[in-house]
Amino acid sequence: MGSIDCYLQHPVWLAPMAGVTDKAFRTICLRHGAGLTYSEMVSAAGLHYGGSRTAELFEPAPEERHIAIQLFGSDPALMAEAAATVERALDGRLAFIDVNMGCPVRKVAGKGEGSALMKTPDLAARIVSRMVETVSVPVTAKIRSGWETGEVTAPAFARTLEDAGASLVAVHGRSARQMYRGVADWDVIAQVKDAVSIPVVGSGDVFSREDVGRMFATCGVDAVMVARGSRGNPWIFGPAAPTQIERVDTMREHFELFCTFFGTEHLSPLRSQLAWYVKGVPGAAEVRKALSEACEVRDFERIFDEGERRAR
Ligand SMILES: Cc1cc2nc3c(=O)[nH]c(=O)nc-3n(C[C@H](O)[C@H](O)[C@H](O)COP(=O)(O)O)c2cc1C
Repeated sequence: MGSIDCYLQHPVWLAPMAGVTDKAFRTICLRHGAGLTYSEMVSAAGLHYGGSRTAELFEPAPEERHIAIQLFGSDPALMAEAAATVERALDGRLAFIDVNMGCPVRKVAGKGEGSALMKTPDLAARIVSRMVETVSVPVTAKIRSGWETGEVTAPAFARTLEDAGASLVAVHGRSARQMYRGVADWDVIAQVKDAVSIPVVGSGDVFSREDVGRMFATCGVDAVMVARGSRGNPWIFGPAAPTQIERVDTMREHFELFCTFFGTEHLSPLRSQLAWYVKGVPGAAEVRKALSEACEVRDFERIFDEGERRAR
């Protein structure tokens, strides 16, 4: 079995975010100091039924020497098969395979996948143990505090996963019912840390460098994951806040990486991804409007040129 310890040497990680953590954004976060990146969640069934588009979701970016791949599904055999497929495809670049046990959306949880696995711990354990038997990289899981709000099942659930062979558990301190509402309960994260002897990663409401430090101090976790706090703000992985010109340059860099990886035909995902960079910045409304209307490369370039002119 491979070891996770080397990834814990740089313990501020980019969390998996479907629709956000594509190759372009992951590269930006790596360049700013993220210790490890996760793929967007990848469907085990999707892989089995052969979509090449599904396989694209776990392709590492050139600068990603290692990447964690997250799978979702509820069939132990299909999950093990998907893990083997990913391991073969990524060869030595696979840090570990993570099982999504936290996604609350109906399309996923309604089928017994994602966060619904927290209601079926025996099945969750069978998935993990089957995957551990099948691949040689570590198998990990990302969970929530529990299914129902106020019902904290994560510590016992994490122990079950540890017994099944999981090498690490990441905990988002919200219940599945809560989705992304309210405040994340960091106390649950600390309770999970106390309950298991495998490394624990904390997730939830990490929006600044100070939050990163506070989570380490109050939860005693082995690593901290940054999710929403990284959107348009890769500087959260490093020590310094950006200048105006760095902000614009990074938007351009993100845009250029996206074009390199995905071509220039479908640029619409960039409208919202780039708008995050101007959150709270003077003139943001105007930039957001221009981005929402941008279609072609030159529309985006005009926005960056104007941003640079103003920043100088
Ligand atoms: C847009 C979006 C997509 C997400 N997609 C995933 C996912 O694919 N897999 C996963 O385990 N968590 C996913 N998450 C949850 C995050 O990884 C993280 O645990 C959660 O947002 C809490 O952290 P935060 O409060 O710092 O954002 C997603 C969150 C957001 C906002």
